[in-house]
Amino acid sequence: MYENLLRPILFKLPPEKAQSFADFFLKRQLIWEVYHSFLKTSDPRLQISYTNNQNLPSPLGFAAGYDKDCEFLTSLLLLGFGYVIGGTIVNSPRYGNEKPRIARNIKEESLINALGFPSKGKTYVTNLLEKYQKTLPKRSNLGKIMLSISGLDHEDLLSCHSDIQPYTDFLEINISSPNTSNIKIFQEQDNLSKLLNSLNKQKPLFLKLAPYTSNEEKELVFSLIKTAISCGIDGFTISNTKPTTDERLAVGKGGMSGKPLLTQTIQMIKEIRSEFGYEFLINGCGGISNAYDLLSVLDAGANTGQLLTSFIYKGPNVANNINRTLIQLIEKTGSENITELVQEYPNLDKL
Ligand SMILES: Cc1cc2nc3c(=O)[nH]c(=O)nc-3n(C[C@H](O)[C@H](O)[C@H](O)COP(=O)(O)O)c2cc1C
Repeated sequence: MYENLLRPILFKLPPEKAQSFADFFLKRQLIWEVYHSFLKTSDPRLQISYTNNQNLPSPLGFAAGYDKDCEFLTSLLLLGFGYVIGGTIVNSPRYGNEKPRIARNIKEESLINALGFPSKGKTYVTNLLEKYQKTLPKRSNLGKIMLSISGLDHEDLLSCHSDIQPYTDFLEINISSPNTSNIKIFQEQDNLSKLLNSLNKQKPLFLKLAPYTSNEEKELVFSLIKTAISCGIDGFTISNTKPTTDERLAVGKGGMSGKPLLTQTIQMIKEIRSEFGYEFLINGCGGISNAYDLLSVLDAGANTGQLLTSFIYKGPNVANNINRTLIQLIEKTGSENITELVQEYPNLDKL
């Protein structure tokens, strides 16, 4: 229904207007409570063990950047995601870049965005999360919350980290958005190590890295991974949007997301595992739009896979569809659970 009926209507609107319209419904949590009560995909066979002895009900996460101010995280969890990332949150309210700042490439199911961290700021978000925490006992069967933070300098990020940390299960630091030039300071090894060593780390911490397309960029990403490992990081999100130019955007350039990224995401995960081994977690992100994409990312060495753009192209049922297909594949292959299914992945098309 979404792809044939709702999406054509939504896509008549400019992307940010379409999102505001969709958000209106996502803020109506009762709709999603009812939706969730009809889902048949909450299944222990999809559960994975993550960091800090926490389990996730599914290896599928909702990537950072959709619910920037954490206004409907529970609704997103009710859609069937194993975890949902709120943010990226920054210290003080920001408008971001001039509009238009999102463009669609419908045929290839991708987006180019140059949002530049619009945010209502951490105080707005922590007030909302305070209320969310009071409902936690009721939500024990849902996925977990991860919050994405960033900052324009060292002090900014430290302050955001310490204020946000109490409200989340996991944290992701975004040092890789192509649309906010200041955060590039954290892509220097010394600055990154200074930052990671000064954090008062009480919650598992992930670093979201940029994609690489040349040997030089790969060396930079590998050097940051090495630094972050030596500072005790729990894992990495591989990766963010891919820088590109686009004249439809007011600033003329942005980051590409969606289907075209999948091959690159898989390749990066394989190369990182081959270089650094398995001692940390990886969240694969970029181009996942169905269960087979997710399996290919897990097979490459990721522990979870995250999506964002396919939520916009495929609609609110995307997580439910992916979970349901995974369960069908578990049954078809005679696997015990998702971990065994991933081992079966290379033989799947022979079945
Ligand atoms: C509109 C939009 C906004 C985004 N905002 C953020 C953000 O605030 N923080 C972040 O870490 N990533 C952000 N991203 C990147 C996504 O989290 C993700 O890394 C990227 O879209 C690739 O995944 P996908 O192909 O499944 O969309 C954004 C992506 C899009 C499309």
